[in-house]
Amino acid sequence: MKGGNSFRSRGRKFSSGLLALLFATVLLWIWEKNPFINTLQSAQDQFLLSSSEFIFDMPNDSMVSAHHKEHTDEKDANVTPKISRKAEQGSDNSVMEKSTSALSPKGKGARHSKSSSKRKVCNYAKGRWVADKGRPLYSGFGCKQWLSEMWACRLTQRTDFSYEGYQWQPENCEMPEFERSSFLRRMQDKTIAFIGDSLGRQQFQSLMCMVTGGEESPDVEDVGVNYGLVIPPGAIRPDGWAFRLRSTNTTILYYWSASLCDLELLNITDPSAGVAMHLDRPPAFMRKFLDTFDVLVLNTGHHWNRGKLNANKWVMYVNGRPNEDRNLAAIGNAKNLTVHSVVRWVDSQLPSHPRLKSFFRTISPRHFLNGEWNTGGSCDNMSPLSKGSVVSQDESNDLVVQSAVRGTKVKILDITALSELRDEGHISRFSAKASDGVKDCLHWCLPGIPDTWNEILCAQV
Ligand SMILES: *[C@@H]1O[C@H](CO)[C@@H](O)[C@H](O)[C@H]1NC(C)=O
Ligand SMILES: *[C@@H]1O[C@H](CO)[C@@H](O)[C@H](O)[C@H]1NC(C)=O
Ligand SMILES: *[C@@H]1O[C@H](CO)[C@@H](O)[C@H](O)[C@H]1NC(C)=O
Ligand SMILES: *[C@@H]1O[C@H](CO)[C@@H](O)[C@H](O)[C@H]1NC(C)=O
Repeated sequence: MKGGNSFRSRGRKFSSGLLALLFATVLLWIWEKNPFINTLQSAQDQFLLSSSEFIFDMPNDSMVSAHHKEHTDEKDANVTPKISRKAEQGSDNSVMEKSTSALSPKGKGARHSKSSSKRKVCNYAKGRWVADKGRPLYSGFGCKQWLSEMWACRLTQRTDFSYEGYQWQPENCEMPEFERSSFLRRMQDKTIAFIGDSLGRQQFQSLMCMVTGGEESPDVEDVGVNYGLVIPPGAIRPDGWAFRLRSTNTTILYYWSASLCDLELLNITDPSAGVAMHLDRPPAFMRKFLDTFDVLVLNTGHHWNRGKLNANKWVMYVNGRPNEDRNLAAIGNAKNLTVHSVVRWVDSQLPSHPRLKSFFRTISPRHFLNGEWNTGGSCDNMSPLSKGSVVSQDESNDLVVQSAVRGTKVKILDITALSELRDEGHISRFSAKASDGVKDCLHWCLPGIPDTWNEILCAQV
């Protein structure tokens, strides 16, 4: 009787959690679908603008001017993305292919049907969070060299760090503990590139801390200049960073491209004239340096709203001309087009870049409750896993990325649902702007959730 009761109440809790998730998903979906909601939400847009690239940023982290340098890259990169669809079947079957084949139709195909009863298909996104005393993977005090102060929650007023003590356990995949030296040995002479928005930058900083153990080290060399990642005239920081570990000759780099579109000044001599945002052309940086990458991790998402576009003076271009397609004026459709064309372009490059392993990371969830960043929205829960600890669904909550990679050899790095369970891991009211009542429920504390994204990545490279 007693047991039955507690079971029922747990069931209720569980289903209300599910309802909340469902609600959030539907909201997200509506968000993606409906341009008008986007337009109406200028307040949120402002948050995204200010928080991810400005408000929460420390002095040497302020607004970058991607288009300035992108533009200089423009001349030698008149490559247009091939939109031709690669053959969807019969492509060869790498180890990675098998490990994530839950999301590709091929994985369920006849070829695997015999073994499928024995060997379950591996989907890293499906599993559970479990407590782990061996965490965090590096010190939140120590990793000063690569970790932005604004994201190092150990340096803030926060006193509860229980969010650091969990490990992601995929249900049907081998995911060995992250081990620096063995990872770096595997990455000998290799280059790992992150290209995306500030959440991509968080993942980059996390990996830098993971591979160095968060210690300052003479082994690390700044090689940004090799990638043109220097501070442009008039800017405060470069558009990215690149570091090389001398001992294994491993390079890890990040390039800021929030939309994954190629950006081009409309008037070279007058930046205020605006920026062409080529929806169907990958960033010049990526086209230029793809040859040097062994691992590529892409992401985009939080800049696809009217406020961001207007604030950055981004004007949509398709086929090299200003967009006239009304359908694409809806931001969700424009994002979908860009995600699909970036994936297709990378996929088209894979035959000529056989050692390249490419990933598209799904969207990182935000957790504002009861308002937006500027209307009292917050994420005050500090107790881990109050939304549950298990992801049991097979599909991703990021339908755009999931559909874009389907049928290609670009892998999905699906972190959306597992990160949705970790609302306590945001910077929250401990942000640099907390005194202004601004809370950051978008970015994550480091060490923290993005470390897990990297563990899932490292298991697949
Ligand atoms: C930020 O600035 C500090 C001190 O000015 C410097 O040591 C650090 O390398 C800078 N970080 C980045 C990522 O440029
Ligand atoms: C480091 O690795 C790159 C390939 O990523 C290679 O071209 C280069 O020669 C290597 N350098 C040394 C010193 O081994
Ligand atoms: C570009 O900007 C400059 C300076 O404002 C202006 O003189 C010029 O006419 C502009 N060019 C075009 C094509 O609009
Ligand atoms: C996204 O774009 C792809 C390719 O252009 C298209 O097939 C798909 O229907 C689009 N999805 C949505 C939701 O618009």
